[in-house]
Parts: sequence; structure tokens; C-alpha cells
Amino acid sequence: MLGLIIFGGLLLWQNTTSQKTSLLPAQLPISVPLSVKSYNFSQIEPLPFVLSLANEKISLGKQLFNEVLLSRDNSVSCASCHDLAKGGTDGLSVSTGINGLKGTRNAPTVFNSAFNFAQFWDGREATIEDQVAGPIHNPIEMDSNWQDVITKLKAKPAYVYAFKEVYSAPINKANIIDAIAHYERSLVTPDSSFDRYLRGEPNSLTQEELKGYQLFKGLGCISCHQGINIGGNMFQRIGAVSDYFKGKEIKPSDLGRFNITSQEDDRFVFKVPSLRNVAVTAPYFHDGSIKTLEEAVSVMGEYQLGRQLSDDEIRLLSLFLHTLTGQWQGQTLQ
Ligand code: HEC
Ligand code: HEC
Repeated sequence: MLGLIIFGGLLLWQNTTSQKTSLLPAQLPISVPLSVKSYNFSQIEPLPFVLSLANEKISLGKQLFNEVLLSRDNSVSCASCHDLAKGGTDGLSVSTGINGLKGTRNAPTVFNSAFNFAQFWDGREATIEDQVAGPIHNPIEMDSNWQDVITKLKAKPAYVYAFKEVYSAPINKANIIDAIAHYERSLVTPDSSFDRYLRGEPNSLTQEELKGYQLFKGLGCISCHQGINIGGNMFQRIGAVSDYFKGKEIKPSDLGRFNITSQEDDRFVFKVPSLRNVAVTAPYFHDGSIKTLEEAVSVMGEYQLGRQLSDDEIRLLSLFLHTLTGQWQGQTLQ
């Protein structure tokens, strides 16, 4: 009921009609506890189908995620760089923020990001909640600040109303963060062919895809890309066995965790990315410098495992990676 009122309010504002339709998703059954940490087992396991999240917070968070008022010149929303129709990314090597300013890092997908043990390529924020302020303040992303964001949202009666209904409080930083985080936590893509295989449906993978999975385990990809997100549960150096940056121009954003800790051991160390939906989130790597999945796999073989993978191994591994594409609202991501 609460959710209906809020959504009605937002519709009122968007359509200036008084209809209070039920665009809100049906109440989801509660089946798994909402905890990020509890999912970070080293064993790969399927994504859950349903989460115990408050629907009215998800709806409000969705509005905010798509809200350009979060940026200084009202031109950019979170969705500008994390487009759900593009696998939760922007499809660019590096993102473009306000005034067309180019960033230095590739936008990771927002799908399943709540299952990562830390946020951003260098893991500089621990949780989804901690992460939200980053893009809002980043001068080359949204270049705004909480005071401006709150003032602009408060000027919209629909938001004033919605926050009051959902949080019984005026619009404030904590509630904006909470709503966006709820929405992000709802962006889960279950039921990939590989998850069906993990759940005991052997025929959901072809013989070749299965060979790819065996290579993934046998060659040792799984030693880094593991856990529920098949990645996202540890930090590792790019160039674990040989110098990836040899002969390349090194930019500050290539230094990875070194920028956070100043520890020599953390130079070029990044969060191992999740490989879920990786087939639909090109280009690859922290700088978006790798255009195809096959190239990414080949680089991994050479610099992370010290092996020149054969064309056939690359093909089979890539076929396996394609089975990690999950579903969003009943549709396989493209
Ligand atoms: C201008 C483009 C841009 C905008 C706008 C933007 N992001 Fe991002 N997002 C990025 C880039 C680039 C990164 C990676 C930055 C890094 O790691 O240094 C990122 C990283 C993230 C991550 C971390 C994912 C992971 O697996 O590490 C999350 C979550 C996220 N953004 C959510 C949001 C939310 C929520 C908003 C709106 C408040 C937002 N983003 C706005 C480009 C953008
Ligand atoms: C020693 C740890 C390690 C091993 C082993 C490893 N990876 Fe990675 N992988 C990483 C790291 C770290 C990155 C991020 C590199 C970067 O952004 O610069 C990455 C990135 C990737 C990407 C790009 C993902 C994206 O979204 O940009 C793919 C695909 C990938 N790995 C597949 C594989 C495959 C297949 C194997 C086995 C052949 C493998 N990896 C072995 C650590 C590892």
C-alpha cells in the first residue's frame, strides 16, 4: 500500500495525472537474508532468485538512479553510465561524465555488484552504501554535492512526499543513499545456463561449454575468479606472473590499490572483477583497453597464468564465459 502511494506520487509528478496504478512489482517472497558478506564463499554458487528487500525503497531508489538532478548541470544520472540495457555499463572504454568529460576507468556493471567484497576497481569503498557518494562528488562524473542534490530534490513535491512515506523523514543524505543502495541490491541476474548447471541441470551446458569450464578450473582461472560472483572476492595484481605494463604508458589510474594504501605490494593490484555477464560488458579491464572477450582471455593466460593459450583453449574458455550471462526481469541480458 505504502509503495502504491509513493509510486502514485511519482507518477503524478511525471504525468500530472492522478492515477495511482500498480506499476510497483508484486511483493517478493522472502527467501534469503540480505547480507553481502555472507555470499563471499570461495565456492561458486548460483545467484539467488529473490531477495528480501523493501519494494518501496527499491522503487524510490530506481527513480533516484535515473535522476539527472543528482548531477551539477542536470545532465547525467547513474543510469547514464550504468545502462541496464547495456549490461549495466555504458559500453565505452572509459566513461563520459558532465560536460562530456572523459574519465580514466571503465564503468563496471551495477548488476550483482552488491555481491562484490568491495566496490570500485581498486576496492576503495567497502559497500554499495559507501560507494554512492563517489560519483555524485566526482568532478568528472556528476560534479555535485549533497547540499545541492538535497535542495533540488526538495523542490520536487513528489520526492518530498515519497521520502516522507518511505522513511518518515525529510530528504537527507542517509535516505538517498539507502534508497539507491536498495535498488542496486535488487539488480541481480539469476538463472544463467551456468547457474542452472550448478543447480544440477547437467544439460544446460553443451559439451564444449563444459570443456571451457573444465579449462577454467584446470588452468587456474578459478583461483582468482571465484565465489558467488565468479570474481569480486579478492585483490590481485594485473601481471601476476609477468609485467603487464612493460612497454606501456602507465597512468595514475593503472596503479590500482597503490593509490589507496601507498604500499609497494599494491602497485597494479585491482579487485578481481566478477565474470558474471562478462560477455555483455565489453570493453574490458580497468581502463577498457581490451575490446573482445577472446583478447581478455588470452591476456589472462599470458600475464596471470604464464601460458600462451591455444586458439582452441581461448575459444572454449570464451564459450564458457558466455554461459555466465544471467537474466534480468525474465530476459537474458544482451
Ligand atoms: C560518468 C559515469 C558514471 C556515473 C554518472 C556513475 N558511475 Fe558508477 N562507475 C563509473 C565508473 C567509471 C566506475 C569505476 C570507477 C573506479 O573503479 O575507479 C563506477 C563504479 C561504480 C560501482 C562499483 C561497481 C564495482 O563492481 O566495483 C557502482 C556500484 C556504481 N558505480 C554505481 C553508481 C551509482 C549508484 C551512481 C549514481 C549515484 C553512479 N555509479 C554514477 C561510472 C559512472
Ligand atoms: C592471478 C589472478 C587471476 C587469474 C589466475 C585470472 N584472472 Fe582474470 N582477472 C584478474 C584481474 C586482477 C583482472 C582485472 C585486470 C584489469 O582490469 O586490469 C582480471 C580480468 C579478467 C577479465 C576481464 C573482466 C572485465 O570485466 O574487464 C576476464 C574476461 C578474465 N579476467 C578472465 C580470466 C580467465 C578466463 C582466466 C583463466 C585463463 C583468468 N581470468 C585468470 C585476475 C586473474
